[in-house]
Amino acid sequence: MAKVNRNYLKLPGSYLFSDIGKKVRAYEEAHPEAKVIRLGIGDVTQPLCPAVIEALHKATDEMSSKDTFKGYAPDLGYEFLRNVIAEKDFKENGCDISADEIFVSDGAKCDCGNIQEIFSEDNTIAVCDPVYPVYVDSNVMAGRCGDYDDVRGLFSKVIYMPCDASNNFVPEFPEKVPDLIYLCFPNNPTGAVITKDRLQEWVDYANKNHSVILYDAAYEAYISEENVPHSIYECEGARECAIEFRSFSKTAGFTGLRLGFTVIPKDLKVEGVSLWNLWARRHGTKYNGAPYIVQRAGEAVYSEEGRTQVKQQIAYYMENAKLILEGLKAAGYEVHGGVNAPYIWLRTPQGMTSWEFFDYLLTKANVVGTPGVGFGPHGENYFRLTAFGDRDNTIEALSRIKAM
Ligand SMILES: Cc1ncc(COP(=O)(O)O)c(C=O)c1O
Repeated sequence: MAKVNRNYLKLPGSYLFSDIGKKVRAYEEAHPEAKVIRLGIGDVTQPLCPAVIEALHKATDEMSSKDTFKGYAPDLGYEFLRNVIAEKDFKENGCDISADEIFVSDGAKCDCGNIQEIFSEDNTIAVCDPVYPVYVDSNVMAGRCGDYDDVRGLFSKVIYMPCDASNNFVPEFPEKVPDLIYLCFPNNPTGAVITKDRLQEWVDYANKNHSVILYDAAYEAYISEENVPHSIYECEGARECAIEFRSFSKTAGFTGLRLGFTVIPKDLKVEGVSLWNLWARRHGTKYNGAPYIVQRAGEAVYSEEGRTQVKQQIAYYMENAKLILEGLKAAGYEVHGGVNAPYIWLRTPQGMTSWEFFDYLLTKANVVGTPGVGFGPHGENYFRLTAFGDRDNTIEALSRIKAM
């Protein structure tokens, strides 16, 4: 008799964004005249930049000729892409990462979700609270998180590290030492960043305790301030304790195209076993690579024109972020993030719960955001708005919010 993976049954409710989608659809059906503005889901709205489009066309043409056609990609990804990543993302920033430590994939979500497979089932995980849900859910599916407490909204075996205004949304070291530590900076959902010194302390902590840091740098391209690390490998000793995830989704608008990569230094060993070897084995067995055409598009992001064009896109979103941040501040809201990240994390007014504020914003301003509690209990009384909308909609949304 077949049996299901019962760990899946421990996952609470449906996915946050499907709950939001249902509520918004119901509202739109009841109010067909309303022009609803979505500043909820973290998807980009700007088209791919010309350098990327040109590379896509060129690579597509190559696929039409026997001489230049490409089949399966190499396991780790094409060298032309890994070389340019190693050079521009790491070496130019003083990080000692080589091309053969980069595993190209179709995005950071899969990698963040799959990485737990190479660790023991009885490892403990620590996550920030609030948190990007993939880290916890993927470990729940693997049976690493214990049971879910409906009332507290927590799993019994997960170490939660509260992040709120009192610690600038950067976690303290937990009482119990975790085996695996998920960190994400710039952070989704809070928009917070970590200083280089503080990240160095986390690296030292992990090395001292033989823990591994799983560092999600999907929003690295949005960093605008000094002394904010773009990569964990800027810290001394990170090669011995950290894996880093990167994505082209928010950097270059690849959410629909799909491209990302994971960095595993060859020095990173757990119980004497190379994590690079384990991930390479997994990659070879379960993954057949991002498309050639898309990897060529990724390469174009690093060309001179690509870099300039992508920077303009990011500047566009960050101008939205500034408008939201300043607009909400002027309207009396307590706001965080939005300076080194495309997310604005605001405190709900008058002690409203996150979902109360969601309903209030939807019905009074026809604006959709994301309830903070959807990212964890410490997200209660907070709310996330994204800067990924288009400019006119962002301005319109703000004027409606101010008028509420
Ligand atoms: C923190 C974080 N990591 C990873 C991802 C997923 O990125 P990708 O589109 O590359 O799968 C997201 C997407 O929203 C994210 O917010």
